[in-house]
Amino acid sequence: MAGRIAVIGSNNVDLVTTVARLPARGETLAGTGFSTGFGGKGANQAVAAARLGSAVTMVTRTGDDGFGRDMRRNLQTAGIELTHVTPAPGLPNGVASIFVESSGENAIVIVAGANGALSPTDVDRAASDLARCDLILLQLEVPLETVYHAVAVAGGLGVPVILNPAPAAPGLELARLRGLGWICPNETELAQLTGLPVGTPAQIEAAARALFAQGLGNVVVTLGARGAALVTAAGTTPIPALTVAPVDTTGAGDAFVGAFAHHLAAGDAPERALRRASAYAALSVTRPGAQSSYATQAEFAAFLATQPSTVQS
Ligand code: RIB
Ligand code: NA
Repeated sequence: MAGRIAVIGSNNVDLVTTVARLPARGETLAGTGFSTGFGGKGANQAVAAARLGSAVTMVTRTGDDGFGRDMRRNLQTAGIELTHVTPAPGLPNGVASIFVESSGENAIVIVAGANGALSPTDVDRAASDLARCDLILLQLEVPLETVYHAVAVAGGLGVPVILNPAPAAPGLELARLRGLGWICPNETELAQLTGLPVGTPAQIEAAARALFAQGLGNVVVTLGARGAALVTAAGTTPIPALTVAPVDTTGAGDAFVGAFAHHLAAGDAPERALRRASAYAALSVTRPGAQSSYATQAEFAAFLATQPSTVQS
């Protein structure tokens, strides 16, 4: 049975330019393509979970502009509950300018716009709906005060939280995140959160253990093409990655977190939910864009059926 998930976070319109390689400072290059797409870490994770069949509500601020109206329609089309999707008067929608190299790697500049107006009061207004959820998902593209408040409110309601601490936020106060169920950084974020090196698998494991020891919940470190590592009181479990030909890695981390949340809320054991998340993220990397690359439940089932039985179990 699919579960109910709330995402308290950002939404962006992604302005995507494809290039053979990133330009150097002061250099002008001819790009090979341009498109707009729907993104933002919060909205991406919400859409991934909704495509997989979760009931998803979003607490987010859209722009007081055409992009904001487009985003609202996009979330509605994805089947997301819109009660707490509210325009921010006078502010532009969040945007992300993204360069994608032919290798599939990217570079991104985000402008918060309306996401900067998502406030603790917005979280309070959603409290009765949050109370009905199996899981709450948070990221760091909205004000940190709102994130801390959401953690506190979720704790009071007894709803478990997954925090994806992305993008890396230098001022993040770990002491105000106590009570999380799960924290899911990538390697860069792990290094920043702990101040420890992450150059080797042993260093990554040591840093993840150090983070776990801070009482922020179970730790899942996403490792891109190398999969992920799960660190709990029981030990460390490697989660394998599928080998795919990368087209665009934009939003792959969000595909992972959204799919993990979906499977966890549906009652899967953490390890199985993470194997599923890893496969879902791999599939997203083979397609262009963020939300545009997220498979439906049926597409994902068809993809899994082509994989070895170890992946399907
Ligand atoms: O995580 C990927 C997302 O980061 C993109 O969709 C872009 O909007 C940026 O927020
Ligand atoms: Na993609």
